Amino acid sequence: MNSIYFDHAATTAMHPDVLNVYVEAVRSGPGNPSSLHAHGRAARERISQARDSLASLLHCEASELIFTGSGTESDNSALFGAALAQKKRGRNGIVTTAIEHHAVLHACRQLESQGFSLTVLPVDEFGRVSLEDAKLAINDTTAIVSIMAGNNETGTLQPFAEIGELARKHKALMHVDAVQAFGYLPFNLKELPIDFLSLSAHKINGPQGVGLLYVRKGTPFQPILHGGSQERNRRAGTENVAGIVAFAKAAMIACGQLQSRWDHAEDIRITVLERLSELFGPEQFVINGHLEDRLPHILNISFTGISAESMLMNLDLAGVSASGGSACNSGSLKPSHVLSAMKFSSERVSSAVRFSFGLGNTREEADKLAKITATISARLRIN
Ligand SMILES: Cc1ncc(COP(=O)(O)O)c(C=O)c1O
Repeated sequence: MNSIYFDHAATTAMHPDVLNVYVEAVRSGPGNPSSLHAHGRAARERISQARDSLASLLHCEASELIFTGSGTESDNSALFGAALAQKKRGRNGIVTTAIEHHAVLHACRQLESQGFSLTVLPVDEFGRVSLEDAKLAINDTTAIVSIMAGNNETGTLQPFAEIGELARKHKALMHVDAVQAFGYLPFNLKELPIDFLSLSAHKINGPQGVGLLYVRKGTPFQPILHGGSQERNRRAGTENVAGIVAFAKAAMIACGQLQSRWDHAEDIRITVLERLSELFGPEQFVINGHLEDRLPHILNISFTGISAESMLMNLDLAGVSASGGSACNSGSLKPSHVLSAMKFSSERVSSAVRFSFGLGNTREEADKLAKITATISARLRIN
């Protein structure tokens, strides 16, 4: 059975060139970047080159980049790191949105339980936060504002740069979770009003277990991991050398192909939608998320009257990997907090399936997906 992988928002396969770089780095022998001998120096040099490459892609200084173990760690480090440092300056407020990844939302809730005052901004039916709401929420007591660039369940883009300007006006810090948007949108940190940016390698055809946190020079920041003096005392722990080198390679490939990556994902998305429209009646499915201001690789659809569990199980049996809600939720099949925040009926929320596209996907697969979905749908509607 040929399988179709339409779950690139959950994780991606390593790009062949990235895999080569990764294997070469592993094979090059042991080397703890903190060791003073030749092996250690070689490992340190590899990390240094990777950091330089990423800094040039992001238009920032290499010293502003901290390698972490995941996007989740980057998000947590930004929020705890900034909030705790800001508290010492008398700032106690945290502003975020209802559609953030749990790596942000749960970290914010944790900070709330430690005495911070949390404001969770609502979103409209397209999953977008309003500037007006942000304006009302951000003030001179705000420690940090955390808004994602593009949502991992719907793909909807957020006005993060405009909200960053609002944060600046009040001297609040701005964090952007760009885990899904990086590789599709350019991020020029010289120009963007952003103090913290979270990235994750495994969403851009890099390895799992490596993240990046940008911390603007001079930004108050308190590390969450304590131990060695790695990453200029901002993140203790021996670095994942091969992972970091491979991350830089994946980022160079992705950022060098932003437009063609976008066009490819968009082409698959449009093909799926066109074929579904040919095979389904208009009332049989509905798209969740913004139709224009969105990332190209995520397509969230509710198949009316069919539970996501049934659809996903049948898709899996037919060789198609997709997701319900976010990847972290897919095991537990909890109703999506993102779609719930968009105030959809429980029926629409519980029938939502996320398809996400990327490297290696073809129009033929898009075609096949629509046919398989139509067959499953017809079968489930009869039963
Ligand atoms: C928007 C967003 N933020 C953070 C994360 C967490 O990244 P990681 O899987 O590297 O921990 C994800 C992963 O799905 C994500 O989509």
